[in-house]
Amino acid sequence: MEVPFAEFATGEILHVGAEAEITAGTWFSKPAIQKIRRKRTWRHPDLDYRLTRKRMNSEVKLMIKLHSIGVPVPAIWDVDFENASIVMQKIEGKQLFEILNNGISDAELLKKVGKAIRYLHRNAIIHGDLSTNNILISQNGEPYLIDLGLASMEYELEGYGIDLHVLHEILRASHPSIDDAMKIVIEGYLELDIELGDVIPAPGGKPPSATDVIKRLEQIMKRVRYHGG
Ligand SMILES: Nc1ncnc2c1ncn2[C@@H]1O[C@H](COP(=O)(O)OP(=O)(O)OP(=O)(O)O)[C@@H](O)[C@H]1O
Ligand SMILES: [Mg+2]
Repeated sequence: MEVPFAEFATGEILHVGAEAEITAGTWFSKPAIQKIRRKRTWRHPDLDYRLTRKRMNSEVKLMIKLHSIGVPVPAIWDVDFENASIVMQKIEGKQLFEILNNGISDAELLKKVGKAIRYLHRNAIIHGDLSTNNILISQNGEPYLIDLGLASMEYELEGYGIDLHVLHEILRASHPSIDDAMKIVIEGYLELDIELGDVIPAPGGKPPSATDVIKRLEQIMKRVRYHGG
């Protein structure tokens, strides 16, 4: 039998979702995870293969680029398109979801989350699925952004506002006891632009300033309140 990932030593299964299965293990003795995209049996196999490969390709490319410029995302160590598998650095820690569910709302941590998102946005990338499951907090309290399968380069203000709006809705719905969580995330988001200065233009244009994104977020929130979407 062919062993597709000889270097990845499989450990326990961490997560079985609709889209992906995540297994912990080691890669050349470093803590790693293997993310295997599940087959969509209802889709024609050729189409499924093409779509899976397209999404993996985009996820991997963006993560390699982001990691190399210091955006906190796990390092990619191996990719196997045939088996729809990615091996990446394991972030030892917890999902932000679990931390907030345990009633821990640490202002310093939420500010760091805002800064991590802003750092991604300053590099002209929107996440596309900013849930509290897709933000991991390492044991030493540093946030990492994961699950970039829907991420993309973006130059329109709206995409940035929507990225934050998704997080805001999730914080409101799943952690209502933690008031002000989003307010602190926004503080961190704005603070990073003050620390780093004006945004540097990316190849396709200039990503919007933090102030403009937050203004747009407020407009989106109003829109949703009045029109329900
Ligand atoms: N690099 C990593 N280090 C540690 N844990 C991880 C890592 N990547 C993923 N996980 C864990 O696995 C979970 C699912 O991973 P991910 O978000 O990438 O998959 P998914 O596309 O959301 O899967 P599904 O949609 O099927 O739920 C994460 O919420 C996290 O708990
Ligand atoms: Mg996820």
